[in-house]
Amino acid sequence: MATWYNRGMQSSTSADIRTIRLGFLGFGTVGEGTYRMLVDNADEVFAKTSAKFEVVRVGVRDLTKVRGVAAEFITDDLRSVVLDPSIDVVLELMGGEEPAGEMVQLALEQGKHVVTANKELIAKHGSRLIGKAKSRGLDLHFEAAVGGGIPVVQPLKHQLAGNDVIKMMGILNGTTNFILSKMEAEGADFGEVLAEAQRLGYAEADPSADVDGFDTMYKISILAAICFGKQIPLEDVHREGIRSVSAADMKYAKQFGYKIKLLGICEEIGEGEVMVRVHPTFVPLGHQLANVNGVYNAVWLHGDFVGDLMFSGRGAGADPTASAVVGDLIDVARNMVAGGSGSAIPYGVGMRVTSIKELESRYYVRFEVEDQPGTLGDIATSFSRYQVGLAQMEMVTKVGGKGEIAFMTHVCQEGNFRLALEAVASLGCVSRLEGWFRVEE
Ligand code: NAP
Ligand code: HSE
Repeated sequence: MATWYNRGMQSSTSADIRTIRLGFLGFGTVGEGTYRMLVDNADEVFAKTSAKFEVVRVGVRDLTKVRGVAAEFITDDLRSVVLDPSIDVVLELMGGEEPAGEMVQLALEQGKHVVTANKELIAKHGSRLIGKAKSRGLDLHFEAAVGGGIPVVQPLKHQLAGNDVIKMMGILNGTTNFILSKMEAEGADFGEVLAEAQRLGYAEADPSADVDGFDTMYKISILAAICFGKQIPLEDVHREGIRSVSAADMKYAKQFGYKIKLLGICEEIGEGEVMVRVHPTFVPLGHQLANVNGVYNAVWLHGDFVGDLMFSGRGAGADPTASAVVGDLIDVARNMVAGGSGSAIPYGVGMRVTSIKELESRYYVRFEVEDQPGTLGDIATSFSRYQVGLAQMEMVTKVGGKGEIAFMTHVCQEGNFRLALEAVASLGCVSRLEGWFRVEE
């Protein structure tokens, strides 16, 4: 059994010390990081819990990999971990919907507390699983599922719970923020930076989860569920990734005074109704979120009493994520030592999510055009037909009689803006719609 004792324990009698037995499901970037932190920081953890941790079993897929834990604990039989009667807490650090979902459910049915870093699982099944934990007096914690090392889930559930959260915006994916920051600062190649993010342990097993915005969608939906008390139906969340962001758009963003960030945004539309969306966004250079770079994540929110607030920190990687997992584990251990009941905070289902076509926003848009008299007038007329006003413009001449025009619009409704785009793109003087993004002020 992997047990670690610590200096702090020498002054305690064995009667004071609670032994808490752990089963790991997954021992990759986060699993190994968590184990390492529990060993390296055993003194700190013991001082705050009066508990001694023992790792009893570690469930993985590939038995041939060399691990930072003794081979005798490793198994590829996940059920043997959750069914082991001696295990008190299951750490689900595998990821994905299944078999993680089945294992977490089984662990709760066996009376075990669960700590997970799995945003997909919580975003899709949080209401049911947290409800199950609550009904059995168990803890189900998932701080590491959102924002890596940033404490944001617990503050939203506790210290900020009395606020009506009116709007929340987050840079919630370390991999894509790392990619966008390097593309912007160094003109780096998308594929090369993604490979670096994978080497550093930031990316998901399938990096499309990061690049195409799924990971951010799960995370903003979890935060929204906590704030608004109901699980968010993911099929109603508007989601775009960063594949459409080009160096040219970054250049125009800078000229107009913005940076492009992948944001998860949630805002209250009315009683029991929210809009949740994920897309690359023009963020003003003066906004705090514009200065969150690299693997850093941040969650900005406006609450009716607390006002504006921002949490920021490393959003991915073994160490910051371990910090969040161990924080949750300490919470569980304190409950166990105090003999308290579980502190899972359940939420319901059935939140109404407003279509993004109702969004009122400013937009950036870029076209390749025929460089000829009348082009600008024709474009402006088409936009105005759909109540889209143009606020700023940059224009350059290209070779072969072509030109490029980038516009910033005034605030308009997205449904109208999309109709205007179709109309403008079909004009004879417009060769191509190059790209468009939403703008936050
Ligand atoms: P990872 O490095 O790919 O590790 C996943 C671990 O789970 C591996 O040990 C793997 O086994 C095991 N595993 C996966 N599927 C399995 C299956 N079907 N059966 C048995 N074992 C299985 O992933 P990670 O980066 O540590 O991420 C783990 C979780 O933390 C995910 O939910 C992720 O979204 C979340 N998370 C990650 C980070 C981060 O920065 N990496 C940050 C926050 C949250 P093998 O080792 O045998 O392959
Ligand atoms: N792949 C995720 C990211 C890990 O890059 O943010 C942290 O959840």
